[in-house]
Amino acid sequence: MGFSITLQPGNHTFIAEAGETILDAATKHGHQLPRGCGDGACGMCKGNVLQGTVDHGKATEIGLSAEDRNAGMALFCCAIPTSDVVVERREMSSDWDMQDWDSQEG
Ligand code: FES
Repeated sequence: MGFSITLQPGNHTFIAEAGETILDAATKHGHQLPRGCGDGACGMCKGNVLQGTVDHGKATEIGLSAEDRNAGMALFCCAIPTSDVVVERREMSSDWDMQDWDSQEG
């Protein structure tokens, strides 16, 4: 069974399937959220979990520090809802995309 995800601002609600990350569910439902490595390392997808709980999955300490977790933040590329959640997305920057991420590696 999945859980509902509500994106703020905008109050957009959709359902994540069981085991689906917030980022994957949002993308599937047409919401573009910041995405970088997609692997819990870069922190590009970080946002606030305003209500509810998540499993942080493969989030790394580099991408999501203990302080971030304690502050209620999550990496949306890794975070899997374990209850209905309300999350706060960051605005997409039009001058950032995977090409920028690729150019920072190596
Ligand atoms: S996209 Fe890099 S940590 Fe989520």
